[in-house]
Amino acid sequence: MNILKSLTLGVAVLATVSSAVPEADREIMERGYRVYKENCSLCHMERATLWDFLKARLSVLSGKRPENIDAPPMNLVSARVKEFYPNEIEFVEFVKDYITNPSKSKGVCKPAAYTFFGTMPPIGQGMSEEDKDAVARWLYHNYSDVWSELFKRVKELQRKREAIPELP
Ligand code: HEC
Repeated sequence: MNILKSLTLGVAVLATVSSAVPEADREIMERGYRVYKENCSLCHMERATLWDFLKARLSVLSGKRPENIDAPPMNLVSARVKEFYPNEIEFVEFVKDYITNPSKSKGVCKPAAYTFFGTMPPIGQGMSEEDKDAVARWLYHNYSDVWSELFKRVKELQRKREAIPELP
């Protein structure tokens, strides 16, 4: 097959895949992102890089509150919650309940999150069912990070950094 032909085919396949995403799902994802921006982004940043994660981890390990953040970043929250609730329905139920009635006893974050940031406020109490549902589904689908992978990679980065002390 010549290159042009295979490229055209590739584009056609991509187009089929993206138009296969049901309109309703796309609307929910957009709504979820809007809800995140309006209600959650004040505390939860959208995505932490591995460096951000390492900086926060080093602060916590030395007993200090991580600087510049007020809550765990959303890609970490999504990965962490999926570790305990891998199934979408259970994940969504957990998130909707947690944001409405948060408590350390039902939370699945690392203990340091509650120590340094405190338990999150019951922000969901002022939100509609639909908005809670949308933001929970957005949190599930928007990220593909896997907790054990992230943790492994942050520890590797930590070891590299320790081997080169002049790094920031
Ligand atoms: C005022 C700051 C603040 C806002 C606003 C906020 N959160 Fe949080 N959130 C936190 C903090 C701090 C934690 C870590 C402690 C905890 O889990 O309660 C957290 C933890 C979480 C967790 C992990 C729960 C667990 O297992 O411990 C989820 C899920 C979450 N937030 C979702 C949301 C969503 C969705 C929104 C927006 C609708 C939101 N948060 C808005 C501060 C906030």
